[in-house]
Amino acid sequence: MKFKPANSIQDLQYFGEFGGVNPSISDSSTYTFISAKTMLDTFEGNTDGCYLYSRHVSPSNLYLGEALAAMEGTEAANVSASGMGAITSTLLQLCTAGDHVVSSRTIYGGTYAFLKNFTPRINIKTSFVDITNLEIVEAAITKNTKVLFCETVSNPLLEIADLKNLSKIAKKYNITLVVDNTFSPLMISPIKLGADVVIHSLTKFINGSSDTVGGVICGSQEFIDALRSVNDGACMLLGATMDSLRASSVLKNLRTLHIRIKQHSINATYIAKKFEEVGIKTVYPGLSSHPSHKILKTMMNEEYGYGGMFTIDVGSLDKANQFMELMQERNLGYLAVSLGFYKTLFSAPGTSTSSEIPEEEQKQMNLSDGLIRFSIGLDNDIERTFEMMKECMIELNII
Ligand SMILES: Cc1ncc(COP(=O)(O)O)c(C=O)c1O
Repeated sequence: MKFKPANSIQDLQYFGEFGGVNPSISDSSTYTFISAKTMLDTFEGNTDGCYLYSRHVSPSNLYLGEALAAMEGTEAANVSASGMGAITSTLLQLCTAGDHVVSSRTIYGGTYAFLKNFTPRINIKTSFVDITNLEIVEAAITKNTKVLFCETVSNPLLEIADLKNLSKIAKKYNITLVVDNTFSPLMISPIKLGADVVIHSLTKFINGSSDTVGGVICGSQEFIDALRSVNDGACMLLGATMDSLRASSVLKNLRTLHIRIKQHSINATYIAKKFEEVGIKTVYPGLSSHPSHKILKTMMNEEYGYGGMFTIDVGSLDKANQFMELMQERNLGYLAVSLGFYKTLFSAPGTSTSSEIPEEEQKQMNLSDGLIRFSIGLDNDIERTFEMMKECMIELNII
C-alpha cells in the first residue's frame, strides 16, 4: 500500500490533561518518583511511561517525536534543539575514532564544516563525493566506513540523491544510510526507499514560521533508545535538547505542513518555469531540465509537488547582491538565510550558508558566485510576484 505521510500525522489523536484537544505541555525539567526503586529502574531504562529529567525525554518532546516518526514511517524519533544538534548527535553515535564517513559533497555548510573540520579532531575521517555518481560513492567506501550521509535534495545545489540505489550500496557494505530530508518533508519518505536514519532541521519547512530552531532524528526504536541512553547516548550526553514549550508549538505547526508544502511547490514551479522562460539559468527539481528530474519522480509522494526551493545564476556576486537588495526593497521577500517561511527568502549561498566550503571546492561542485537560492513563499498571487521580480531584473540588466 502507498505510504501517505500526511494521513499518518492527521490520524494521531491526543487528549490533553483536562480533555483539551492539544496535549498538555509538560512545563517541568524534573519529575517526581513515589518509589526510589522506580527511579533507579528509570535510570537504567527499564520503565516505560516514567519521566526522569527533561534532557532525557519529556512528554511534550515525545509527542512531537511520535508525530515526526509517523510522518517518516519510523518506529521512533528524538527531537533536538536544532538540526545541527540532530546531525552531530547521529554521526557521533554511529562513529567512533578510526571510523570513516562517505558524504555527499553538496550538503549544508554546517554539516560540511562538522565533517571536514571538527570530526577529524577525534579521528573520524570523511570522503566527500559526488552523490549522483554511484560508482564514485561505492569506490569511496573503505573497511572503516560506518556511515553514508546525504541530503535527499541537497543544499544549495538541489542535487537529488538516488536513495534506492544508495541504500543498496549501504546494505552491501553493512553501513548506515543517514539522510537529511530537510528540503523535502512529505514529498519524499527516505525510509520507504531504504534509508536507515532520517534527519530534519525542523527550523525550515516543518515549523514553517522562522521563529525557532529545532531538529529531529527518525529511526528504529533501538537507535533512538541508544541516542537517549544515560550511559553513552549522544542526545542525552551532548545535551542538544529541545525545550518542551517549543516542542508543543512545532507540533501545532506540523499539522498544516501538507497544505504549505503544496502551495510552496505550486509557487516555486510557477516562478522557476518563468525564470527559465526568460533565459535565466534555473535549477529546480520540478523542471525537466534538472538532471535528476526523472529519478526524483520515481521517489516522490507525488501530491506534494517538487518543493519550494530553486536556484538561479545571475552571472556574478555583484549582480546577485543588487538583485536581492532590490527584491527586498520592493517587499518581494527577505534577504535572509533559511527556508520554509511564508515570505520568500533569498541568499547567495557562496557567501552565506555554504561559506564554510573553501572557494576552490565551491568551484569544483559548480557553486558559482552568481548563484541565488530561493525559498519561495506562500504568496497567494504568484503571478504578481513574478511580474515584480521581472521588473527588478530588467532594471538591473539581468535580462
Ligand atoms: C539541509 C540542512 N540541514 C541541516 C541544517 C541545520 O539545521 P539548524 O539550523 O536547525 O541547526 C540546515 C540549515 O541550517 C539545512 O539547510
